[in-house]
Amino acid sequence: SGLNLAAKSAKKLYFGTATNSDQWNDTTYFNILKNNAEFGQVTPANVMKWFATEPEEGVFTFQDADIIADFTEKTGKLLRGHNCVWYNQLPDWLVNGTFTAPELAFIVTRHCFNLVNHYKGHVYSWDVINEAFNDDGTFRSDIFYNVLNTSYIPLALYAARAADPNAKLYINDFNIEGTGAKSTALKNLIKWLKSNDVPIDGVGIQSHLIVGEVPSTFQQNMEEFVELGVEVAITELDIRFESLPPTAAGIAQQKKDYETVIAACNAVEKCVGVTVWDFTDKYSWIPGTFPGQGDACPWDENFVKKPAYQGIIDGF
Ligand code: XIL
Repeated sequence: SGLNLAAKSAKKLYFGTATNSDQWNDTTYFNILKNNAEFGQVTPANVMKWFATEPEEGVFTFQDADIIADFTEKTGKLLRGHNCVWYNQLPDWLVNGTFTAPELAFIVTRHCFNLVNHYKGHVYSWDVINEAFNDDGTFRSDIFYNVLNTSYIPLALYAARAADPNAKLYINDFNIEGTGAKSTALKNLIKWLKSNDVPIDGVGIQSHLIVGEVPSTFQQNMEEFVELGVEVAITELDIRFESLPPTAAGIAQQKKDYETVIAACNAVEKCVGVTVWDFTDKYSWIPGTFPGQGDACPWDENFVKKPAYQGIIDGF
């Protein structure tokens, strides 16, 4: 038994996890990660990001990301590429530079093309665009939007399609788990891309959730995305406690919440798979970004399966 086996039995393509290879000398961690019964898919948590893959302008470095790509190749796991264009974790030369629109258009195109091309034939899906929206549904005024307006989005998607025609191209975001202003804005973007024949295959629903706060419209919202002609995936699932330690009731609620999320994906045929944003509390990004919060993963920091693990199994 295992999470990926449960997903496969439910006719999903995969159950996966994010990972960083600097954790792999932890043999307990690595043995669980390796196990295809638990994980049939991997997302690099950091090493495919812009700072890591183009640290100097026009200089591409893939050594760290290749370690993860080689691992997925050897173990027969699917690989999700994460990501091409995101406002965060950018190299200094890009953050501190001043670029004209034609210059930045070239930079975005070259980055997306080279990154996707390097992994051509090895990636199931790419998060081409990550976190383009504010919560109110307006576009995030990051370096890309400020210089190129929304044109950077088709530029990146066209470059990715040209580089690997077989990779599914996704737009990925958080706080789009339920219906609302941000989900509506993304739906409008998908419609606009589709009506202009810009390649777009999927919506990645990150799903960094809080215990007790799974949106009741999760499934309906996924269905609304799918109706636009894209697939969906849950790409970065974790369900955190806002204060620690959790109560017994909280732990039971977390199990229920994992089950609810998985069951929603299960009910939507075009929800192709689920990825947790690492599987153990030992290496979760949550405490580093949300101080005082955590215990968000299906395994605890000692690699003991939590009730949340069973919640995932029950959801499929
Ligand atoms: C996180 C990583 O897990 C951390 O190690 C890093 O310090 C910051 O980024 N949304 C995303 C991911 O799309 O890339 C983020 O990953 C988590 C939030």
